[in-house]
Amino acid sequence: MMAKAKTTFFCQNCGTQHAKWMGQCSACNEWNTIIEEVIQKEVAREWKQSNAAKTISKPLKIEEIQLNAEERIPTKNKELDTVLGGGLVKGSVTLLGGEPGIGKSTLILQISLVIPDKVLYVSGEESQSQIKMRAERIQKNASNCLILTETNTQQIFKNIEKVQPQVLVIDSIQTLHTNAIDASPGSISQIRETTAELIKFAKETGTPVLLIGHINKEGQIAGPKILEHMVDVVLQFEGDRNHTYRILRSQKNRFGSTAELGIYEMLTDGLREVSNPSEILISKKDADLSGTAISSTLEGIRPLMIEVQALVSTAVYGTPQRTTTGYNLKRLHMVLAVLEKRAGFKLAAKDVFLNITGGISIDDPAIDLAVVASILSSNQDIAISPNVCFAAEIGLAGEIRPVSKIDQRILEAKKLGYKTFVASKYNKITLKESGIKLILVGKIEEVFATLFA
Ligand code: TYD
Ligand code: MG
Repeated sequence: MMAKAKTTFFCQNCGTQHAKWMGQCSACNEWNTIIEEVIQKEVAREWKQSNAAKTISKPLKIEEIQLNAEERIPTKNKELDTVLGGGLVKGSVTLLGGEPGIGKSTLILQISLVIPDKVLYVSGEESQSQIKMRAERIQKNASNCLILTETNTQQIFKNIEKVQPQVLVIDSIQTLHTNAIDASPGSISQIRETTAELIKFAKETGTPVLLIGHINKEGQIAGPKILEHMVDVVLQFEGDRNHTYRILRSQKNRFGSTAELGIYEMLTDGLREVSNPSEILISKKDADLSGTAISSTLEGIRPLMIEVQALVSTAVYGTPQRTTTGYNLKRLHMVLAVLEKRAGFKLAAKDVFLNITGGISIDDPAIDLAVVASILSSNQDIAISPNVCFAAEIGLAGEIRPVSKIDQRILEAKKLGYKTFVASKYNKITLKESGIKLILVGKIEEVFATLFA
């Protein structure tokens, strides 16, 4: 009699394992995400632990614990090193997530080709010649990087034993499969199992592993959230595919801060590191155009001057349109409602389009004030001086709320040559000599008066 294949049910959204099929996942409440996957008991975990590597752990008092600074391998890429907190930690597993086509493979290949250490770049997505073409495009041809096209982890480990790399790259985790279980590549159980094998390999050999992972439409690493729990560092590569700027964020970092941020520009010959982002995010305009305002934002701990563009026009159709790129649409609705209710601007019958330049998406609430300023400027058709910048949040009562790290924002604005800084009067500014004109406002009504007095 044939043994019945062992199966179990996984939610493809959150990775939760269920005993039976259900229409709705009880963990994340998503519908139609539960799929039956075949799992088979392990044949053999292929990465075999050598006895030498085995260390026996015993309980220690805090003062007995030796602190050894993590050993790191610098990637020679300043932006990535900053985000990682100084390089790849030996034995760590780093996951790089991002939408297809955003530039994950380009970034990692670029780095693999300049790291002095021996890198094994395993691709399950592209052929060796495709990778060669990419390498030629980015004009980096190092000798220390080996390219392998393989998707079976047992085969990968065989090659690792031969090659003995100091850094392992997997592009992408969704293409891998292990013989230990029967499920198809990209399924929750395969992702979980292959990641577990790679983590085991990393920890036992001290080799840093870089995993590339695709993201689904909700912005999560496609497949399980558990993947993010398993690895040490989770990085996110984001940006608008139609724009050239890319942001590298850290969502989790067991060895450093998650506040750092890396910025790149996608050029025809690879990704360029952008060390002074503020200058490029502001479109250089000749004439004074209405509808633009500069915001002083902070992404993580990095100050960024961002240009906000608004276009307010009379709605042609019955329902006015509201569209945003890089700014939360719900927040725009809120700002418009506040402008209408607290400051008496009749915007209900107007189309409002809002754009953040560079295709970058901003979470910092300090951008609100620049959004208001750009909308008012477009509505009145009066330009705002390009020497003015804004940083404050808008509250529901129309109050102008303080934002974090105001001193740092003011200093950055001054450094870049701004003459006037508009902020909330509730912000505690400790700078003595800022060398910039400060305008402090408390209510949304005052903004208009300040701008177009
Ligand atoms: P890729 O790294 O393949 O994205 P991912 O691995 O995240 O899916 O990047 C693909 C895009 O980047 C593709 O549209 C072409 C573009 N690109 C450049 O603009 N310049 C370059 O030098 C390279 C290599 C790619
Ligand atoms: Mg790729």
